[in-house]
Amino acid sequence: MAEAFNDLTLPDDKAARYATVAVEIAAVLDGEPNRTARMATIASMLAASFDHFFWTGFYVVDPERERELVVGPYQGTLGCLRIAYGRGVCGAAAATGQTQLVPDVHAFPGHIACDGRSASEVVIPVFDAAGALIAVLDVDSTELAAFDEVDVEWLEAILRNSFT
Ligand code: SME
Repeated sequence: MAEAFNDLTLPDDKAARYATVAVEIAAVLDGEPNRTARMATIASMLAASFDHFFWTGFYVVDPERERELVVGPYQGTLGCLRIAYGRGVCGAAAATGQTQLVPDVHAFPGHIACDGRSASEVVIPVFDAAGALIAVLDVDSTELAAFDEVDVEWLEAILRNSFT
């Protein structure tokens, strides 16, 4: 399946590309219950599909710490290991349960610069079937304003389909 995915020619149009990738992700995840395996697969397939994804990965809720995220499966350069709720963009997504679309990370109060090349990002909270926050998906780009509502809509849909 992974080989099939790599050989697939993806559409140029962003929404059409997301639609294709969403179907491929669902096919690869079919029948796999392990959450780490699902997150690793999603991070890999998204990062391989979009040129504007410089860092793509999950910060998961740490059950052993109060209101703290710990790095999970990701693709990209070295990420910070832990982020407290409320800190930076990921922490804001975790604290509010709301997607954060940030066109210029340097203008975001408390932004955590794991890699100084990141210029814009989108962070989506991930919920389980019971509605509990389990993680956030963080996607960073080296370009300013690299993400828009199309990214938000499709990333939210992929995560909803994958974890609820
Ligand atoms: N950009 C994030 C920090 C994590 S890394 O960039 C991988 C933030 O401010 O939440």
